[in-house]
Amino acid sequence: MGQLDGLVAAKLAQRKEQGTFRSLTTSTSLSTGSEGQVDFTSNDYLGFARSEELKRRISEAEKQFSEVGVGSTGSRLLTGNSTLAEQVEKQVAAFHHAETALIFNSGYDANVGLYSSLGRVVKYIVYDELIHASVHDGMRLSRAELKPFRHNDVESLRSVLSELHGAAVVAVESVYSMDGDLAPLKELVAVCTEFNADIIVDEAHAVGLFGEGRGRVSELGLENEVYARLVTFSKALGCHGAAVLCNDNLRQFLVNHARSLIFSTFTSNHSLISVKCAYDMLSCIDFNKLNISYLIDLFNQSIKEVSDVRVIGGESPILGVIVPGNAEVRAVAAAMQNDGFDVRPIVSPTVPKGTERIRICLHEFNTEAEVKGLIVSLQNAMAHVF
Ligand SMILES: Cc1ncc(COP(=O)(O)O)c(C=O)c1O
Repeated sequence: MGQLDGLVAAKLAQRKEQGTFRSLTTSTSLSTGSEGQVDFTSNDYLGFARSEELKRRISEAEKQFSEVGVGSTGSRLLTGNSTLAEQVEKQVAAFHHAETALIFNSGYDANVGLYSSLGRVVKYIVYDELIHASVHDGMRLSRAELKPFRHNDVESLRSVLSELHGAAVVAVESVYSMDGDLAPLKELVAVCTEFNADIIVDEAHAVGLFGEGRGRVSELGLENEVYARLVTFSKALGCHGAAVLCNDNLRQFLVNHARSLIFSTFTSNHSLISVKCAYDMLSCIDFNKLNISYLIDLFNQSIKEVSDVRVIGGESPILGVIVPGNAEVRAVAAAMQNDGFDVRPIVSPTVPKGTERIRICLHEFNTEAEVKGLIVSLQNAMAHVF
């Protein structure tokens, strides 16, 4: 053996020393969360990933599509394309009021493909400082100049754009995955229009929750003002994969230039069928009858009664309770897990030092009693640790 394994071990030891070591945990059952705990952490906002109805719909549809094979057998450009894939893309585009959709194997792949390829035709990529890691990885593969602006700060975007001389694309999320706050999309779009820049909106955490499931861009009627949107099937839809919603021009460009699409075997047919069924189910939801907004309000009201806690988010099911310090946030999470609540600590450097947090995701299937119990548990854990 060469030196590599020693170097790998040293890197791991460094992480342990810094308190940033990551390890895998196993969820034993979806209906109960990790090891029987109540799920306050997964992205399964609507409970689709554990839905018996969705499972039933998928097995029925598998019979209907019995002529399709298991795997797609190749890249989309070689043998991987199918009428099923094109049918699902049409369904996704129609649902989100978009001209076309192009499916990628994951949201990560979609962002990497999108920014790495577009970043070779624009001079600048301007991005919100809290944009998702997948956008960062795509940007790094591009040749564009990268310009951050302050999180959700319209004036900061204006000031960055005012200094550029050349084509720019602006990258934002509509609901931020770590802070759970909402981007001021209308204002951001207006500034982009003023400076002749194009904006792309990542709706990973908005799909299924805002705009009758269509996302915040649709909710605000901005479909024609944004250049492209990313929707993922992996969060509220309970499946896997993602789509870029765009015009036919960009779709063709991505088919020609997005390397994460070109050089990867396309998603399985089972996955496509699952996405089709999840969208069928999403279209049937009566959003006025959902419980999740009530649970968000309940959490926001109840947490106010807990002294000395700082909460971020509050407008979406993603909420963060700030517990400064990696060791401290881990201790609070461990105590809450001990009480039966599956919550995870988010440590630095994933989030800036001093803003370490317990990230809480509320779900349609959580109950009022569970949310109240979670807050009592948090209060006790904080009192114990501080
Ligand atoms: C904002 C955002 N974009 C993209 C992704 C990647 O999506 P996927 O999990 O489908 O790869 C995520 C998931 O963590 C996300 O939070």
